[in-house]
Amino acid sequence: MTERTFSIIKPDATRRNLTGKVNAVIEDAGLRIVAQRRIQMTEAQAKTFYEVHAERPFYGELVAFMMSAPVVVQVLEGDNAVAKYREVMGATNPAQAAAGTIRALYAESVGENSVHGSDSLENAKLEMAQFFTEADIVG
Ligand code: GTP
Ligand code: MG
Repeated sequence: MTERTFSIIKPDATRRNLTGKVNAVIEDAGLRIVAQRRIQMTEAQAKTFYEVHAERPFYGELVAFMMSAPVVVQVLEGDNAVAKYREVMGATNPAQAAAGTIRALYAESVGENSVHGSDSLENAKLEMAQFFTEADIVG
């Protein structure tokens, strides 16, 4: 089934000029980038986005990291897009990420791991709505 998922190219990747290389992996996997914008996250945006992790010991570090350089927020469309993008990203910890995945190729550490992807269709809708309106998404 055709779905949309939400993606972020994180500061460690934008800082190293890897936006195009990450996008190439996304497109080679058959996912279509149907909305994309480069932004500087505010503290409020970063805190809201990772609110589910507010009680985790690394929350402060995570919020600071997400504000440390520009990010690229994206909507990806394709068959089974939510699960497919999780596969394309690879495991959270790049040391455990399968060969050829974005995190195996580019991530620096478990914290600075180059990309975010929604973990469910429900979260994808909520996350997209934080950064895009329907009019921004051209499928
Ligand atoms: P996201 O797509 O970014 O949500 O990653 P994920 O779903 O693979 O992992 P999870 O939701 O469990 O964690 C969210 C993010 O928190 C990760 O992508 C990391 O950037 C960060 N994170 C997770 N564990 C650690 C940790 O032990 N230390 C630090 N500094 N950051 C962590
Ligand atoms: Mg997650």
